Amino acid sequence: MASLMKARTIVAGNWKMHTDLDEARKLMEALAGWSKAGRSDVQMIVAPPYPFLATAVDRASASAGTGRNSSIIIAAQNCHEEEQGAFTGEVSVRMLKSLGVDACIVGHSERRQYYGETDTIVGRKVALLLKHGLQPIYCCGERREEREDGRYRDVVSAQLHEALGALTPGEVAKVIVAYEPVWAIGTGLTATPEQAQEVHGFIRGELRLLAGEAASAIPILYGGSCKPENAAGIFAGSDINGGLIGGAALVADSFIELMRIAQQVKSSS
Ligand code: PGA
Repeated sequence: MASLMKARTIVAGNWKMHTDLDEARKLMEALAGWSKAGRSDVQMIVAPPYPFLATAVDRASASAGTGRNSSIIIAAQNCHEEEQGAFTGEVSVRMLKSLGVDACIVGHSERRQYYGETDTIVGRKVALLLKHGLQPIYCCGERREEREDGRYRDVVSAQLHEALGALTPGEVAKVIVAYEPVWAIGTGLTATPEQAQEVHGFIRGELRLLAGEAASAIPILYGGSCKPENAAGIFAGSDINGGLIGGAALVADSFIELMRIAQQVKSSS
């Protein structure tokens, strides 16, 4: 029997280490202006760099209209796994919360690759975010050689179980998952709609082991060179609930176009 619960559709923009204050303001201004009209059922999430989070939170709350999903969720791109302490240069979940940030990306492949983050560390970040009431956006995905060897399901399964396995089913149900094949991030290579849906369906099954039936309502976003030219095919996948967007999130028009495409695809499915 098909579950009655359905995951909401989300388009999230990860600005990575791009923009300066002026550019960040302008980008937020354009997104908030569009969002205010409340013309979409799709939830917009924006993840600017740390120094611009306060500005983004202010802009998002000033423009929150009364229409459907007119409010933008502001997310950080990372957080530290400890509550607080002598960790020079790091940012705690409490700091984010006190700014009004509602969500946080964790386990992005760039953090895993360049900063040695393991699923044990990422799992602690997820738990801490949930403890403070922030929504984790947990990233997983295989590297190119793991795809070529046909090990991608094992890799993604191990990531999910190691990072989320200690949580209660109710906690897992609060996580947003992003599937981002590392070979597709920033490379211009994209998973085909079939490849993406296959892994998303697999992830949904793994989440069912961790969260039970509530897994049907967990948003699973696709990330990796997703842009207006290829998004419609990808978003059409039945277990694909939107996208986590890098490069195309830095241009207001393309990000808004992705919001439109997600709305169109999901309302006709
Ligand atoms: P990309 O990045 O869209 O530039 O490939 C996606 C991501 O890393 O989240």
